Amino acid sequence: MSLRIRVPELVTARTRLRPLRVDDGDALQAWQGDAETCRYLPYAPRTPEQVEQFVARFVDVDTVAADEDRVVLGIELLAALHGDDGRTIADAGAVVGEQHLVLKSAELGEVELGWVLHPAVAGLGIAGETARAVRDAALAAGAHRIVAELDPLNTASTRLCARLGMREEAHFRQNFRDSDGRWADTGIWALLAGDPLP
Ligand SMILES: CC(C)(COP(=O)(O)OP(=O)(O)OC[C@H]1O[C@@H](n2cnc3c(N)ncnc32)[C@H](O)[C@@H]1OP(=O)(O)O)[C@@H](O)C(=O)NCCC(=O)NCCS
Repeated sequence: MSLRIRVPELVTARTRLRPLRVDDGDALQAWQGDAETCRYLPYAPRTPEQVEQFVARFVDVDTVAADEDRVVLGIELLAALHGDDGRTIADAGAVVGEQHLVLKSAELGEVELGWVLHPAVAGLGIAGETARAVRDAALAAGAHRIVAELDPLNTASTRLCARLGMREEAHFRQNFRDSDGRWADTGIWALLAGDPLP
């Protein structure tokens, strides 16, 4: 097997996922530069220059074919999001998060997923809706195994893995130092092609 996945665009009920564009830097800065968002991410809050470098690295990249290749998809809203009180949370066309797809092993058909949302759109199901689309694109392309790695203290991400139909396969203790230098655990969640999908 040699898995190759191309994801030029994925459309969900409320979003369009597409590779990063050069003008996405300001949107990404809102969460990549935010300390609370970065709490369980493997990097400290980024400066605008660091965000620009990140965006430049992934602009227009829509294919993974070699091990460790990564696609970063911007989550663009198809319509404005409103809160229960009617206030606008985010405008139509706004980029409100990232979905990552990493080819861990082309030979074994293993893919890793990752996700980061703008804090303003948390708790609305946007991460679940978009991660499901990336999961399904990977499975449709022939992925055999889909994994996510996270700090088990990251309960929002843990719940998302469960909603995607992944199982917790391992919990490694203190095998990682977070961006503050503190020991952190790692949870490994995974699903196999053919597993029942919620
Ligand atoms: C991890 C992260 C993406 C999860 O985001 P999230 O907002 O919890 O996930 P969703 O967008 O799928 O929203 C799900 C929640 O919205 C609720 N919800 C509200 N309306 C909903 C709808 N229409 N559809 C589905 N869920 C809805 C769900 O009940 C769920 O709440 P629960 O988790 O308390 O049960 C987000 O917390 C984040 O960006 N964290 C910082 C970065 C990070 O740590 N990334 C992961 C590194 S491993």
